[in-house]
Amino acid sequence: MKVDVILGLQWGDEGKGKIVDVLTPRYDAVARFQGGPNAGHTLETDKFKHILRSIPSGVFHGDKVNIIGNGVVLDPVVFRQEVNDIAKYGIDLRQNLFISKKAHLIMPTHRLLDAASETAKADAKIGSTLKGIGPTYRDKTGRDGLRVGDLLENFPEKYAQRVAAHKQLLEKLYGFDYADTLAEWEPEWLDSLNFLKTFTLIDSENILNDMLDAGKSVLAEGAQGTLLDVDFGSYPFVTSSNTVCAGACTGLGIAPLRIGKVFGIFKAYCTRVGMGPFPTELHDDTGRKLRDAGAEYGSVTKRPRRCGWLDLVALKYAIMINGVTELFMMKADVLDSFDTINVCTAYDIDGVPTDRFPFELNDSVKPVYTALPGWKTDLTNMTSEEQFPEAFRNYLAFIEKETGRPVTIASVGPNRAQTIIRRH
Ligand code: GDP
Ligand code: IMO
Ligand code: MG
Repeated sequence: MKVDVILGLQWGDEGKGKIVDVLTPRYDAVARFQGGPNAGHTLETDKFKHILRSIPSGVFHGDKVNIIGNGVVLDPVVFRQEVNDIAKYGIDLRQNLFISKKAHLIMPTHRLLDAASETAKADAKIGSTLKGIGPTYRDKTGRDGLRVGDLLENFPEKYAQRVAAHKQLLEKLYGFDYADTLAEWEPEWLDSLNFLKTFTLIDSENILNDMLDAGKSVLAEGAQGTLLDVDFGSYPFVTSSNTVCAGACTGLGIAPLRIGKVFGIFKAYCTRVGMGPFPTELHDDTGRKLRDAGAEYGSVTKRPRRCGWLDLVALKYAIMINGVTELFMMKADVLDSFDTINVCTAYDIDGVPTDRFPFELNDSVKPVYTALPGWKTDLTNMTSEEQFPEAFRNYLAFIEKETGRPVTIASVGPNRAQTIIRRH
């Protein structure tokens, strides 16, 4: 069996949580492969709306195995809160959620270092979620990290050594006043480690490969999006992990030949939260209309998301990097009331048109638009593609022609039920 991968093709918040939840019944296991509590993955049914941070979005389907892979960075305080929130639905995650011993721990000092680094950057700040993501991955690649498996042996010594090094950085490098905040956060963090230890800590690469050998199916869940990837995104305004398909291999211990379908998720338009370039961003009433209609506010930080038109140059680049086999279009309903819908089909860079994603998305990159007629129809109650208005069919067909990939799901609302599987 192979691992199918779900990942975001834009700047995150494409609707990954919703779709993982919808597709989970088709799989035996769901595994998160990177990122941490910077993610906010929303699931909605008639009975509840829930936002997941580090826990895979398959947990609302009782009989499935859920895995937090080695590529994830885990904050045990957030993790405990998440588990307790889910327990309110009568779900005991100890039965079916397993955590890689190789996942790295986010320490309170990582969060302080995140804040110190952002403060030091002043106007050049990234707009980090301040969850300690960058410093934790930096320690991982710098070979100074603490892993979940370290909890099982000589943990106090290892922890004391890392904290001492972080304090040096905070004091000497950043001159950052951390003492009171650390005194407030540290007891809760240490306490949450005991909670984490009540979970089964595993070598997830072995478990996953054994499952595949036994004919079981696995869905890999990404966080963030391709344009936030540390190698291929709009660097340096990115997150600190590989959000692309290759990240599923390194973040789970899956060989490339074991990757099956690659589901690329994108919104019918574009959003971004935090700083950094965004060629199709709209600063006018149309941008505000998109934000209002799409309720575009960060699931975690509640920051207003920047909104703009769909960018096909960036989308095609993301499809190439990830080897996307199928596209899922999300939030089509948000465009229901627009007379005209613009789609960026090329960039004009200093007067030269191109459909290549450039080294840097700087101010000289201007979008070239193709205008398509809006459908002016409420899509939210539709239950099959036969009901789609012609203009919406044309919008889908235009994207399929431009990208050379089928759009096999069109999402027309946040609810699990508002998901239309298309025939191809
Ligand atoms: P993720 O991080 O990729 O899982 O996405 P988020 O949960 O951060 O953001 C997606 C938001 O859009 C959430 O509030 C979802 O409930 C909502 N959503 C998902 N799909 C649709 C859709 O098709 N239409 C509308 N209107 N909202 C959607
Ligand atoms: P999901 O999984 C949208 C953005 C932050 C910031 C940059 C770096 O819900 O799609 P970090 O805290 O990772 O150091 O922040 O990345 N960012 C996200 N934007 N959705 C996310 O996750 C994000 N995770 C990080 O806003 O610009
Ligand atoms: Mg999100």
